[in-house]
Amino acid sequence: MKAITLQSPGDPSVLTLTEVPTPEAGPGEILVKIVAAGVNRADLLQRQGHYPPPPGASPLLGMECSGVIAATGAGVTGWAPGQPCVALLAGGGYAEYVTVPAGQVLPPPDGIDLVTAAGLIEVAATVSSNLSLARLVSGETFLVHGGSGGIGSFAIQYARSLGARVIATAGAADKLDYCHSVGADLAVSYRTDWAAQASEFTAGAGVDVILDNMGASYLEANVGLLATGGRLVVIGLQGGRRGTLDLGTLMTKRAQVMATTLRSRPVPEKTAICSQVAETVWPLVSSGAIRPAPETRIPLAEAARAHALLESGDNLGKILLVTG
Ligand SMILES: NC(=O)c1ccc[n+]([C@@H]2O[C@H](COP(=O)([O-])OP(=O)(O)OC[C@H]3O[C@@H](n4cnc5c(N)ncnc54)[C@H](OP(=O)(O)O)[C@@H]3O)[C@@H](O)[C@H]2O)c1
Repeated sequence: MKAITLQSPGDPSVLTLTEVPTPEAGPGEILVKIVAAGVNRADLLQRQGHYPPPPGASPLLGMECSGVIAATGAGVTGWAPGQPCVALLAGGGYAEYVTVPAGQVLPPPDGIDLVTAAGLIEVAATVSSNLSLARLVSGETFLVHGGSGGIGSFAIQYARSLGARVIATAGAADKLDYCHSVGADLAVSYRTDWAAQASEFTAGAGVDVILDNMGASYLEANVGLLATGGRLVVIGLQGGRRGTLDLGTLMTKRAQVMATTLRSRPVPEKTAICSQVAETVWPLVSSGAIRPAPETRIPLAEAARAHALLESGDNLGKILLVTG
């Protein structure tokens, strides 16, 4: 099969289309013939050599895809060749075929184009599992950083569907407009004093749940903004990994700081998350309560261009690599 490989870490030009052996479905696995693969920020880090795949995972890039079932391994039930599907991967999506544990394969949401569906499972699984961890409920205030990104735009809509009031941060004016268009009650530029504006929006009470992509650089401001009993979930380290945590503030507020990654979780946990997505998130996508982000489709062979576009920061929404 054809796949995107890299000989050594580096800039986007290291990504090249190569012929590699087609994987075979082992026991409990499914072989998916890929139609499209989502491009994620973590793929950029892996290309640069900063985010190696977890043990046992494909060395190829690509953490999500859509396609059709090509074959099933021993012990797999409920799937037949030719059925459309999406898959949450630990790697291997930048290719024509990929094998994946059966529990991480689910039907695409009803009424959603199969190419578009490729960009939904990683954000759906990340957002729903983390907002569940943070116990976000109706009537609470929720803030997501990077509200116009793949994760952010999904999080705004999902939190709205749970009944939360939503604050989003973003950079440029068009991205702030986009946050409003998908349901943010307040969108503030992260180039301004976003914490003060968010605090004012809550009349000084603070934010109940924050979903953070920045890590170290926002840790103090995020904790400072939390309400009494507030929960901060860190899912990205775009602002570094070592920050200052004021435990006194945390104690006074009886607040919590949590951090998670999806990729390295064991298969049973990912299986449970995928089941939850199929049951509770896909109906929201099918009904239009959550709309897929605007998308840019790029042929698999031009993965280097896709990475350069994501790296530029100019892109709005999701980039999808399309096979064939
Ligand atoms: N832990 C996990 O399991 C997991 C899973 C998936 C993703 N993630 C992480 O989640 C983050 C978002 O992923 P994504 O796929 O949505 O990436 P993306 O589409 O590239 O979005 C990145 C976002 O970062 C925002 N940003 C840039 N500088 C910022 C700043 N100073 N303050 C606040 N926001 C800033 C961008 O906003 P502008 O475009 O407006 O500049 C953009 O919305 C990434 O860090 C990714 O690694 C984690």
